[in-house]
Amino acid sequence: MSLDHPVVRPRRLRTTPAMRNLVAETSLEARALVLPMFVADGIEVPTPISSMPGVVQHTEQSLVVAAEEAISAGVGGLMLFGVPRPEDKDAIGSAGSDPNGVLNRALRLLTKEFGDDTVLMADTCLDEFTDHGHCGVLTGDGRVDNDATLERYAELAVSQAEAGAQVVGPSGMMDGQIGAIRSALDSAGYTDVSQLAYAAKYASAFYGPFREAVGSSLRGDRRSYQQDSANRREALHEVELDIAEGADMVMVKPALAYLDLVREVADRSPVPVAAYQVSGEYAMITAAAQQGWIDRDAAILESLLCIRRAGADIILTYWATEVANRL
Ligand code: PBG
Repeated sequence: MSLDHPVVRPRRLRTTPAMRNLVAETSLEARALVLPMFVADGIEVPTPISSMPGVVQHTEQSLVVAAEEAISAGVGGLMLFGVPRPEDKDAIGSAGSDPNGVLNRALRLLTKEFGDDTVLMADTCLDEFTDHGHCGVLTGDGRVDNDATLERYAELAVSQAEAGAQVVGPSGMMDGQIGAIRSALDSAGYTDVSQLAYAAKYASAFYGPFREAVGSSLRGDRRSYQQDSANRREALHEVELDIAEGADMVMVKPALAYLDLVREVADRSPVPVAAYQVSGEYAMITAAAQQGWIDRDAAILESLLCIRRAGADIILTYWATEVANRL
């Protein structure tokens, strides 16, 4: 067929791998990946998490080995979650702020082993440590008490900073948590410890496997504090508030089903934007791949590249080490 006018041919730029590489608008880099890790108290060997094949609850010993692997692969940071022994859980999550609690012990250990070779982050939340499984302390009638929870978050954050965390990650979605933690850190002298605010965190079914990972005691849901999936404007409001209260970085979570928010937050945020590829996202790709229904490696890279394309500067992903090694 002859055409009487020149045809614009975008396909010219897709002809060879080298050409596609040259014109790629986005890339994945190991330094932008953060590895979430679970460390459990009272276990003798690393314990597999059945809904997240390939992810384990670490012992302190295996945690150090896995951290070393992540750091040498070039992963940019580590986000630590503590899993206490069931008998150490109580109504206010005391084990979280106990200097000898599992999370604070692990932070001290990694600080001693790796110092400034990585960016060490801690989940600053109560749900792993409470016997009711909520992210805050409860009122007499069983609701999550916002302002009483802020006091606990302040204690948690200070204990984590003391243990060596360079970044604290408040993930409980209480109002005013960033400001409360900032003042507590500053008064305790931790003016250089920064906050990665889980600013727009949705009440999501995609957290299912994580609840197994941390042995959560939760019955019910978190809809009175985490955001409704229906809402967009509210997320932008949350981000604005967190930045005003002193957030050093902000996060959107989960990632894949919320890429519109990642984009909008990235367009407006004056601070770095993170997105969390959560446990359910990990489980979906893993399960489909196990059935032979999806190309695992390609799906992993594609999902991460798309989160970057949406505007995330930083991605928390359980595949951080593996992907860093592949890049
Ligand atoms: C709460 C917290 C959760 C996750 C990270 N921090 C669970 C929740 O809000 O119920 C989920 C992470 C994931 O699903 O990978 N401390």
